[in-house]
Amino acid sequence: MRLGVCDYPEHVSRETWLTYPAMMKTLGLEVVRLAEFAWARFEPRPGEFDFDWLDEAVDALHAEGLGVVLGTPTATPPNWLTHERPELLLVDEQGRRRRPGSRRHYDYASPDWWDETRRVVEVVARRYGAHPAVIGWQTDNEHGCHDTVRSYSDHARRAFQRWLAAKYGTVDALNDAWGAVFWSQTYTRFDEVDLPNLTVYTPNPSHLLDFHRYSSDQVVAYDRMQTEILRAHSPGRFVTHNFMVLFEQFDHYDACAHLDFPSFDTYPTAFLDVSWLSADLKRTYARTGHPDLAGFAHDFYRGVKPGAAHWVMEQQAGHADWAAHNTLPADGAVNLWTMQAHAHGADAVVYFRWRAATAGAELMHSGLLRHDGKPDRGYHEVRDVAPLVKAAPGGRVPARVALLHDFDSLWAYDAQKHARSASYWAQLMGFYTALREQGVDVDVRHPLADLSSYDALVAPCLHVLSEETAAHLRTQVERGARLLLGPRTGFRRESGRVWEDGAPGPLAPLAGVRVRNFDALAPGTTVGVTAGGGETHLARTWTEDLEPQVDDVEVLARYTEGPLRGRAAVTRRAHGAGGVTCIGAWSETLLRRVTSGVLSAAGVEHAPLPEGVRVSRRGERQYTQDWRYATVVVENLAAPLETRP
Ligand code: GAL
Repeated sequence: MRLGVCDYPEHVSRETWLTYPAMMKTLGLEVVRLAEFAWARFEPRPGEFDFDWLDEAVDALHAEGLGVVLGTPTATPPNWLTHERPELLLVDEQGRRRRPGSRRHYDYASPDWWDETRRVVEVVARRYGAHPAVIGWQTDNEHGCHDTVRSYSDHARRAFQRWLAAKYGTVDALNDAWGAVFWSQTYTRFDEVDLPNLTVYTPNPSHLLDFHRYSSDQVVAYDRMQTEILRAHSPGRFVTHNFMVLFEQFDHYDACAHLDFPSFDTYPTAFLDVSWLSADLKRTYARTGHPDLAGFAHDFYRGVKPGAAHWVMEQQAGHADWAAHNTLPADGAVNLWTMQAHAHGADAVVYFRWRAATAGAELMHSGLLRHDGKPDRGYHEVRDVAPLVKAAPGGRVPARVALLHDFDSLWAYDAQKHARSASYWAQLMGFYTALREQGVDVDVRHPLADLSSYDALVAPCLHVLSEETAAHLRTQVERGARLLLGPRTGFRRESGRVWEDGAPGPLAPLAGVRVRNFDALAPGTTVGVTAGGGETHLARTWTEDLEPQVDDVEVLARYTEGPLRGRAAVTRRAHGAGGVTCIGAWSETLLRRVTSGVLSAAGVEHAPLPEGVRVSRRGERQYTQDWRYATVVVENLAAPLETRP
């Protein structure tokens, strides 16, 4: 695995900066990312370029044998551009045109912005595309950061109408798909369709879902446009984008299709702000981050483009500056995160950032060097971990379990949560954690991906479910896979309308059950569930009534109280060489029990791990991490037992 760092030569004096490449090399770094926010520095006035500083930086890194990843600078349009052309600026959901003065203030839907992007990307790609130091490119910076994907400009409205006309052909088809008769929303022409913002009350959920899909397509097309220019002028170099797993307003599977491989940014302690982690967990993991947030991101990006590499393009290496509380990481945390990245299959980890910024919006953020240019805590950890990960053998992550995830389901679920404390992520992460707490390696996969190598398929929530996906999953079960379906699966069709005969829609014939009622539980309310033999569990937030439709459905757990008393909460049915288990209730303990049953049936070895411990395997090595103490033990699984630690 390679290590690198993000750096900003434009932030310090030339003399100071020229001392850095040798220091970076000494630290064991091999890659440096540069220039993703440097537009105004290399084009200070329209058409007037000053690349001397960047030429010198790239050459100096090359002289030390370091590879360079260059960012295209489109996340920070310069003032001279947006001042003259305010129509390039983003219009947000409240209909406000956003101002420059920070970053990511452009409108993906503006044709003129696309022209500006083509121009500037071509300039940098031509200048550096063949430089021997340049090993690859990063497009833009974190699409989706600061809630900037969905544009509500006039450009976006017209583009959305064109997108709908191409999708539906006739306006009657759109009316039918959306159920537009509801509240007299029927359209007579495509150009009557507005954007779904500033409505008085909830917009039509199908309208919203299509708007989210259109917005996603817009980002993907924009990124592809940049990629094509880079490829034309920089043969043999990779093109990637630095995703962030929680920037979910566009489909990362689609966005990866044109890239060589995905990379992503990870700030484990700052991620703790997510709403679904309890205050207790936030306290326990304040200095390391929760093991499963970064773990999920790795398992997701490893599979978002199957077979491709995956990089961490920004790895937290000290405290961040954008969390509610920017806690100093524990001793050993940088080491732990780096080892975790390796264990989950990453090909490179690039730390953020080399030196703490002495001015500008991020001057509270740490770097490997402090403001005074002296090594900070993260620097020392990188020095220690570098030889370990560089010498560590690679190999595959031997996952036999796939966790299924898709963006349509995420968008539709979160638009109508029905219980304020529910969310797609909260539900999905409950399943992921249940697997990881039992020591299981997990691949995250799109439900239509090739799933033929997995023994267990865990689908926390395929909320939007097509006939095609159901048929694909049926084939997997017939060949022997054990399929686990979570609550709200198969509730909607692709149009966003419900499956009238009840969830799980087209999977009902396979699962042998239909959901008859669902119940959103008020905060603090619990419902008992019995799994037989005196074993009871408590459900919170969400329960649903799984009604068996055929005789060969086994009921594994029932509600003991409330309106669903006596009804099934967990069912199982054998089919082909495999089987399907359904769970309708949110309950950590029940979920652990049910996932364990599915893993056993699938023949996947598992056992509960102590609190805070996670085990990951790559090649012949096993990495046991204790996230409460920021420690990692590495074992060679091929070595005789008595020689292991
Ligand atoms: C990332 C972003 C970086 C920097 C960093 C600070 O999300 O890509 O440019 O802002 O956060 O933690």
